[in-house]
Amino acid sequence: MKILKTVEELQNIRKTISSNVGFVPTMGALHNGHISLIKKAREENDIVIVSIFLNPTQFLPGEDLDNYPRRDEADKRICELCKVDYLFMPEISTMYEKEEVLIKAPNKSYILEGKTRPGHFDGVLQVVLKLFGIVQPTNAYFGKKDAQQLTLIMQMVKNLFLCVNIVPCEIVREEDGLALSSRNIYLDSNQRKDALCLSQSLFMAGALISRGERNSQIIKDRINEVMKDLDIEYIAIVDREFNEIDTIEVKNTIILIVVRFGKTRLLDNIWL
Ligand code: PAF
Repeated sequence: MKILKTVEELQNIRKTISSNVGFVPTMGALHNGHISLIKKAREENDIVIVSIFLNPTQFLPGEDLDNYPRRDEADKRICELCKVDYLFMPEISTMYEKEEVLIKAPNKSYILEGKTRPGHFDGVLQVVLKLFGIVQPTNAYFGKKDAQQLTLIMQMVKNLFLCVNIVPCEIVREEDGLALSSRNIYLDSNQRKDALCLSQSLFMAGALISRGERNSQIIKDRINEVMKDLDIEYIAIVDREFNEIDTIEVKNTIILIVVRFGKTRLLDNIWL
């Protein structure tokens, strides 16, 4: 595996590759969720490129950028073990200039995640577009856990006619159901136990729906009951375009939950 720090190095190498390139963009602190994306990229492409870049433009002032977990050495080892060909680890000054062309995410980026984090998705789309420009991937792999991010990236690819295939990947969970996240390490043991309510309530919702329930409000009320003692930020039921829906449409619905545990926000969702 070759570690690349500059855009020029990666662009020069990219020019020499004529086969399929699978790309997994990350912010580091790699866990089994990322590993599953890398493995899928490995299976489906001749060349695999992973980026580790803690992108400052997607963090709002006061958010956890400075405390975001950094584990460069462990991450390098994981990428090596996963047989990544190129690991791109640029500095901030490599990626950004003083004045930049900005990306404005569409209105649906200001609901749900974007409501508490206004401007977050502008930063995500900006860096993903830059990375696509540098890497020029054939396939790019994103987890369904960040459902709104995935939807907006797919819209950007469509709107800007980008030549990349976005591959949505399933959520990876601990054995007890907790969705993997780099932020799980912030949970103390009680919070870790309480955090199980997220996946449990989603699985319960899935079971109700498979028994025929289609009323979104009833589903939300039942989720609320399971999580009644927790600091719920939102429970939302949307279609794949992220419009809130009153009636569940099987194969076109995502149920999303965000709960706060102290300063840590955990999100989880289920795609029906
Ligand atoms: O999902 C993430 O880790 C980040 O938002 C991404 C896509 C790597 C952009 O910084």
